[in-house]
Amino acid sequence: MKRRNRTVIGIVAAVALLAPLAWLWAASLVPDTYSVMGMGYPDYGGGPGDPGHDEHGEVNDWDGPPAQPGDVSVDDLTGPQDAEPDVAITLTARREEFTLPTGEQVDGYTLNGTSPGPEIRVLQGQLVEVNLVNESVPDGITLHWHGVDVPNAEDGVAGVTQDAVAEGESHVYRFVAEDMGTFWYHSHQVAHSQVRRGLFGTLVVVPPDGHEQRDVVATVHTYDGVPTIGGRSGVVRETAPAGESVRVRVVNTDDGLHRAWVAGAGYRVLAVDGREINEPGPVDDVAVPVAAGGRVDLEVQIPDDGGAVRVHLGATSLVLGPAAAEAPTAAEPERSLDLLAYGSPSEVGFDPARADRSFEYRISRLPGFLDGRPGIHWAINGRLFPDLPMYVVAEGDVVRMRIENSSGDGHPMHLHGHHAVVLSHDGVEATGSPWWTDSLEVAAGETYEIAFVADNPGIWIDHCHNLQHAADGMIGHLAYTGVSEPFRVGGDAENEPE
Ligand code: C2O
Ligand code: CU
Repeated sequence: MKRRNRTVIGIVAAVALLAPLAWLWAASLVPDTYSVMGMGYPDYGGGPGDPGHDEHGEVNDWDGPPAQPGDVSVDDLTGPQDAEPDVAITLTARREEFTLPTGEQVDGYTLNGTSPGPEIRVLQGQLVEVNLVNESVPDGITLHWHGVDVPNAEDGVAGVTQDAVAEGESHVYRFVAEDMGTFWYHSHQVAHSQVRRGLFGTLVVVPPDGHEQRDVVATVHTYDGVPTIGGRSGVVRETAPAGESVRVRVVNTDDGLHRAWVAGAGYRVLAVDGREINEPGPVDDVAVPVAAGGRVDLEVQIPDDGGAVRVHLGATSLVLGPAAAEAPTAAEPERSLDLLAYGSPSEVGFDPARADRSFEYRISRLPGFLDGRPGIHWAINGRLFPDLPMYVVAEGDVVRMRIENSSGDGHPMHLHGHHAVVLSHDGVEATGSPWWTDSLEVAAGETYEIAFVADNPGIWIDHCHNLQHAADGMIGHLAYTGVSEPFRVGGDAENEPE
């Protein structure tokens, strides 16, 4: 009798302990297919609600709200459909092995036979048409135009702005290159693996009159542990005449932060994330951080004396100067350039002090289940994927966002479709040139405040560009009221954006 009592108490205790765990486990399971509009919960940031969303104030109503009369659908938010393109290219994706110049074999992906894919270089204002063909990538592919604020349907996010392009199929992107600058493109289907293994390239938009400064594109990518610049392993050389100034367009396509610094000359930072810095001054003995996904344009001056300049890019370097000229090396500077105080202030075109919505994007780690897997996972605003915020805005809103990182690891935060201006870093207000960003490194323990104008209607993802982190659930979304979502994650197209 006694023994039986004890057994019963034991069972009751076990159930009492396990039942909540089982409930948490079950609540974490993500269905095979869902609309991102039904994932998580809407956050109106102190602005008016959305009649279309208010029906589901609850977490995880997987189908999302039904389209309302008068809504515009994501797939109608395209670039110009009928005009003749100024630039038309076909990019054909293959799954194949390729060899780096130093002999290493990479089992990856190519576009038109190479990785990186071909550089796309257009004049500002041109209509660009890209025909993406999937010849042999089994999981399907897309192309996202990273840093180009394209219309939503051209944004290339599988399951959010289009279906993944299956083997044997193709998809056409059309957009006007409205802003000059250094950008890149990459697959946004199974992105954490496809980008790392080669499905990307650069996009450079130059002034409409075609008058460009001499430039060199330096795309930093690590293939299976081998650092490369533009797909070239080992020290990369580019010739440039003595005395000339060169714009080095650094693109970080890796998952981690890189730092760039220059030996043999001072330099200036001309642009960050495709936006010019106002009145950039010369700097020396300082490194400039380049967030994952981010771009930094440096101006270096080739010396008159026949020597060369070396741009250190993380573990590798780029030598610029007359053929066979020697370049010095420099130890990595401890100091990082503070972009908050670099250059001189100028108009940003809106008043961040009069925001219509204010959002929090607080990043931490919490124990729990992620799609049934126990662990300590990335959390946003105290919750785990998929219970993440859908930031809701209306077109024309001035939006502030405070990004706070107490997760113990750095996160390069990337909001699609918009550029934001940095207002403050750890409470220190910006005093330099407007610092526009689309890929902002938020290091462990840091807090940034940013602001932007909601001027590009659609459904946009807002995620960490350490793509493994994104695949592990660091993804929020920004939704405009009056926009409906026809695509689904999973489903027949097997959409898997991260
Ligand atoms: Cu460069 Cu969501 O991506
Ligand atoms: Cu991250």
